[in-house]
Amino acid sequence: MYSDLEGKVVVVTGASKGIGEAIAKRFAREQMKVVVNYRSGEKEADLIVDDIKRSGGQAVAVYADVSKEDDVKQLVGKTVETYGTLDIFVNNAGIEKPSPSHEISLENWNQVINVNLTGVFLGCREAITYMLEHEIKGNIINLSSVHERIPWPHFVHYAASKGGVKLLTQTLAMEYAPKGIRVNAIGPGAINTPINAKKFSDPQTKKDVESIIPMGYIGEPEEVANVAAWLASKESGYVTGITLFADGGMTLYPSFQAGRG
Ligand code: BGC
Repeated sequence: MYSDLEGKVVVVTGASKGIGEAIAKRFAREQMKVVVNYRSGEKEADLIVDDIKRSGGQAVAVYADVSKEDDVKQLVGKTVETYGTLDIFVNNAGIEKPSPSHEISLENWNQVINVNLTGVFLGCREAITYMLEHEIKGNIINLSSVHERIPWPHFVHYAASKGGVKLLTQTLAMEYAPKGIRVNAIGPGAINTPINAKKFSDPQTKKDVESIIPMGYIGEPEEVANVAAWLASKESGYVTGITLFADGGMTLYPSFQAGRG
């Protein structure tokens, strides 16, 4: 637990399931005021808010499609209207649309880039604008992926978006460091989330994925949320512009694990 987080206002995009849900719940346990953003998962977001409130926390569910400029402006507006300020913004919402690269339609390409990259830009831009106007030494956390580093056939739009998130994070970190605003990313590996549920329900596929994780197991969303809490807290106060991988070692060239090469 990080005592400096108590009372802080945080927005988590795409928080109705998976890693976003775990981050929202973790922040609520840190006694933060949590905006649970959703797009399609209204019912799930409401349940998460109920859950948080039942445990004595504070949370509100707010709709926004992160790829839409007006929606993101309204998301920040509603946050400030509800909780009076904005301290931390977590750009978590993301999508995947696997397909052989030469068969990806422009529409699918745009969808993935619009949510995973433009959405992160819009969230950062609106949060930073508010923080600058109110002289808040805020904190932004972007959910990237191991695929900001590892190429991934059939996921060219996804990998390109995450590569973009990496340099977006570094650029904003550099630009706003003098204002005391930190911008970092988290790079999860294979995590037990709804986006992966189908894939990991097949025992052979699960085993194949585990074989490229030096630690040998698929991570839990809470293990990513732990990293988000640390990055949000002042314990990481001198850290900006990094991607912290929470991947069980997936980015470490696992095929070399047996000492070959
Ligand atoms: C993807 C997962 C995948 C993992 C490792 C993540 O970015 O969302 O679907 O299992 O990378 O490849």
